[in-house]
Amino acid sequence: MKILAIETSCDETAVALLEISGPAEKPDIRVLGNTLLSQAALHEKYGGVYPTLAKREHEKNLPILLEQTLKQANVDTECLQVDFIAVTAGPGLEPALWTGITFAEELGRRWRKPVVPVNHMEGHIYSVLYKTGSISKFEIRNSNLLTMPALALLVSGGHTELVLMREFGHYEIIGQTRDDAVGEAFDKVGRLLGLPYPGGPKISALAADSRFRIKDLGFKFPRPMLNSGNLDFSFSGLKTAVLYKIRRDNREDIEYKQDIARAFEDAAVEVLIEKTRTALENLGNEARTLIVAGGVAANTHLIHELNNLIRDFPGLALRLPEKLLATDNAVMIGIAAYENVSKRPELIEENGNIRARGNLTYL
Ligand code: KG4
Ligand code: ZN
Repeated sequence: MKILAIETSCDETAVALLEISGPAEKPDIRVLGNTLLSQAALHEKYGGVYPTLAKREHEKNLPILLEQTLKQANVDTECLQVDFIAVTAGPGLEPALWTGITFAEELGRRWRKPVVPVNHMEGHIYSVLYKTGSISKFEIRNSNLLTMPALALLVSGGHTELVLMREFGHYEIIGQTRDDAVGEAFDKVGRLLGLPYPGGPKISALAADSRFRIKDLGFKFPRPMLNSGNLDFSFSGLKTAVLYKIRRDNREDIEYKQDIARAFEDAAVEVLIEKTRTALENLGNEARTLIVAGGVAANTHLIHELNNLIRDFPGLALRLPEKLLATDNAVMIGIAAYENVSKRPELIEENGNIRARGNLTYL
C-alpha cells in the first residue's frame, strides 16, 4: 500500500511517501521519500510556537516539501500512484492543522485520491514500529514487533500521557499531566537558562556535561506528584522551583547552567520512570511492550533510565523510535494511517469533511 503522509500539527512541516505491507503488528515499511522543515529557529524569539507564523510557514513549505519528497522517490507528480493521502487532524495547533488538511484535500481532489485523517499521538505510538536503521537509505525494513498488551509513555511538547493498549487500536489513557507537558517544562527551563527554543536537546547536553564533571550535585529539585497514588503528572511546580533557585543564586556561569539542567532533568525523568513503573506493576506485570515516544523520547538520560527500568520486568520489550522519528515527522503519520486502514479498510472510503481538532484525544 502506497501512502503520501503530511504532518503540520506544530512547528514542523513534513511530507513522506511510504510503501507498507504486512501485518499490523509487524509491517514492512519502506520509506520512499521523507522531507521535513523545522520552524524552530523562527519561533525562537517567541519562546514557543507562534500559531499564525506556523500557519504561514506551513503554507509556504508544503508545496516545496511535496516536490522534494516525490523527487527522492523518483515518481511522477502529474499522476501520483498512491492508495491514499494521510494527514494529521489533531491534536495540535488548529491553524497549523488546517493548513495540512486543506493541502491534503486539494491534492486528493487533483489526484482523485482519498484522504485519511490521522491522530498525531497515534503517529508517535506507531513511530516505534520502524526498526533502527538509517532512514536516509530508504530500504525496506522489517519492523519491530509490537506485542499486546502494550503500555505507551507519550512525552512531547504538548503531551505527557500513559496510554494502555490492551489490543491494537484500543487506547485507554491511564495517566496524564495536570498542567505542563514534560517537553514544555524542558522548553521553559531552557528559557530560564537563556537557551534557544526548543530547550529540550540543549538541556540534555548541558546535563550530560554536569554528570561528566561532578558526581554529586549537592541539591535536588522536587519530584512533583511522585507519591500521589495515581498515574498523573505535574510539571509546572518543578519549573517554578527552578525559577526560584535561579533567582536566589543569581549566577550565570556555564557550570551553574549545567548543574541546573541536570537537577531539572533528574527530577523530570525520575517522575516519568516511577509513574511508568507503577503503571507496569498495576498491570500485574502483564504488559509485553513498553512504547516510549514523542520528542522527549530522544532524551539520552530518559533512555538510559528506561533501560534500567525494564530489567525489573522480564518479558517486557522496550520500543523507542529512531532519533529521527522521535520528534514530529510525516513517516509516523503514514505508519499510523496504515495501522488504522488495515483494521478498518472502510476508512479509505469515508471521504471528505476532515476537521482540525486541537484537543483530539483518540480517533
Ligand atoms: O513530539 P515533538 O516533536 O512535538 C510535539 O508534538 O510536541 O516534541 C517536541 C518536544 C519539545 O518540547 C522538545 O524540547 C522536546 O520534545 N525534546 C527533548 C529532546 N528532544 C526534543 N526534550 C528532552 N530531551 C531531548 N533530547
Ligand atoms: Zn508530536
